[in-house]
Amino acid sequence: MARLVQKMAKKERGDDRVTKATSKHLSKSSRAYLNRQFNDPYVLRAKEEGYRSRAAFKLLEIQEKYHVLDDVDVVVDLGCAPGSWCQVVQSIRPKVKIIGMDLLETDPLEGCVFLQNDFSSDEGLDELMAHLPKDTAIDVVMSDLAANTMGHRETDGLRTQALVELAAIFARENLKIGGHFVTKMFMHGGEKAFALDLQKVFEKVHFLKPSSSRKDSREIFLVAKGYLGEAKKGR
Ligand SMILES: C[S@@+](CC[C@H](N)C(=O)[O-])C[C@H]1O[C@@H](n2cnc3c(N)ncnc32)[C@H](O)[C@@H]1O
Repeated sequence: MARLVQKMAKKERGDDRVTKATSKHLSKSSRAYLNRQFNDPYVLRAKEEGYRSRAAFKLLEIQEKYHVLDDVDVVVDLGCAPGSWCQVVQSIRPKVKIIGMDLLETDPLEGCVFLQNDFSSDEGLDELMAHLPKDTAIDVVMSDLAANTMGHRETDGLRTQALVELAAIFARENLKIGGHFVTKMFMHGGEKAFALDLQKVFEKVHFLKPSSSRKDSREIFLVAKGYLGEAKKGR
């Protein structure tokens, strides 16, 4: 693959940045993906700033606007690989304890416990629960979970939404009072109802489309701040 990429690389402006994928050996969609990666300013910035992926900038924007990572001690990161959200959390709170789970292996990061498992399975959930600290409640549950796509937009959206719903249940069962829940969603028509449900048990619920989120993606982020406990709102 590396040789293929080298072959198709065209160098511009005297630097070694690859800006166009031209190989005939690539499928149209692979070529489009690579071209997008080569020319994406957030991909370049992530490399320059040492983040494992461009996803870091989405969480940085969420933090800048909503301060969900101020004063956190324990964070659960669902869909954590390759680990850039964890890097962001650590850059803000170096001594934070992070428990992350992903289907994929996540390269180690000091201070993080990475579990390779399916969050939607009983076994995955049991493993996650077993690694939660016994004496400290969770300050933030964040989910960037995205189901592997099958190429059917509606089905893909619904599969990710199923993961989002599970993440919300996990957050409601495990967050400390005052904790926050951050999740990626794909707009599918049900996001308002989902937010209304969360509004019953969080102080504030916001939607955000970070500027680092691709314009042509239906991805948005929901930020639920200040967990109140179940059915506590309107006391
Ligand atoms: C967009 S990536 C996360 C990027 C990450 N936030 C970061 O900053 O590096 C979404 C991740 O969700 C994971 N994922 C999808 N379904 C999952 C599941 N059922 N259990 C655990 N992880 C899952 C994928 O493997 C993928 O790594």
